[in-house]
Amino acid sequence: MKKIITSAPGKLMLMGEHSVVHDRGCLVVAVDQRLRVELSLLDQENKLIICAPNVNIKDFYYDLATNKDISTLPKEVRFVVQSVRNFKKKYADIFKKSGLQINTSSDFASTFGFGSSSAVTVGTIFALIKLFDVSVSNRQLFNLCYQTVLDVQGLGSGFDLAAAIWGGILYFETGGKKIEEISLSNLPLVVGYTGIKADTVTLVQQVNSRLSHYPSLMNTVFDLSWILVKKGKQLLQSQNWSKFGELMDLHQGLSYTMGVSSCQLEKQIMAARQAGALGAKLSGAGGGDCMLALVSDENRAQVEQSIKDVGGEVLVVDLLAPGVRVESK
Ligand code: MEV
Repeated sequence: MKKIITSAPGKLMLMGEHSVVHDRGCLVVAVDQRLRVELSLLDQENKLIICAPNVNIKDFYYDLATNKDISTLPKEVRFVVQSVRNFKKKYADIFKKSGLQINTSSDFASTFGFGSSSAVTVGTIFALIKLFDVSVSNRQLFNLCYQTVLDVQGLGSGFDLAAAIWGGILYFETGGKKIEEISLSNLPLVVGYTGIKADTVTLVQQVNSRLSHYPSLMNTVFDLSWILVKKGKQLLQSQNWSKFGELMDLHQGLSYTMGVSSCQLEKQIMAARQAGALGAKLSGAGGGDCMLALVSDENRAQVEQSIKDVGGEVLVVDLLAPGVRVESK
């Protein structure tokens, strides 16, 4: 039986959250917590079976011949099903009536906000590309994955897909208008988890609503965020951590103005700053998920303790992870 295993990394938004949904840029770093996709060809035509024990999905069956609307499916399988459907549509002559078994597993909980939907989309489409021996550039892979995410959730900048594909640390503009790799060998961050799962779609809609009530104010906030992101890109390149930390603090002020910070995030951010962090901010949609603190070697332990003292969990992760890859054939 033909089989392939791929893995794609998770991500953390470094700067530019929300404004990147509105035609601006962001900085994103890949996290070496990987999501694996195991893809096997089945004898039965048009049959798709999905097992995803991390999200309690066992032997989910989808008939690829019927093309049943994905909005009627459990949300845990939508990205995988739509990835297969979009690949099948684009490469119909190669895919024909293939049957597939897809098993997924993850190093990280889907509640962390590390981007399990984007990693599973990238891992699945990349596995299909390799299994069917299609030659595709990173950019073409991104476009197919981005279409899939828009089909499933109707919004999103696509930054998380770029992190899962390229890995490392990237400067990214909405929809992949610009994707630039930044060369960096180390990024001294502490990651604090609030224990609260944020719903990205709801938070993006909340920001949209604030934008419709205060268009010029919110556009100014997005512009300021983009200025910080561009400046941040330069500071990363020169590894000027103290100045980059200042920009993180400034960006947190913008996230607060967008209305996406939360009590628990603020507690952890303030605690980290008081313990000597060079800068601290929320990461991602806000409302929960994770915060980031930039630290020096000397104050890392103190900052970690301060986050725990206010009820946060410190996630130990390797950053600047490699992008999507084949694990075995
Ligand atoms: C969510 O992690 C980051 C947002 O900017 C959404 C997106 O860019 O797709 C809020």
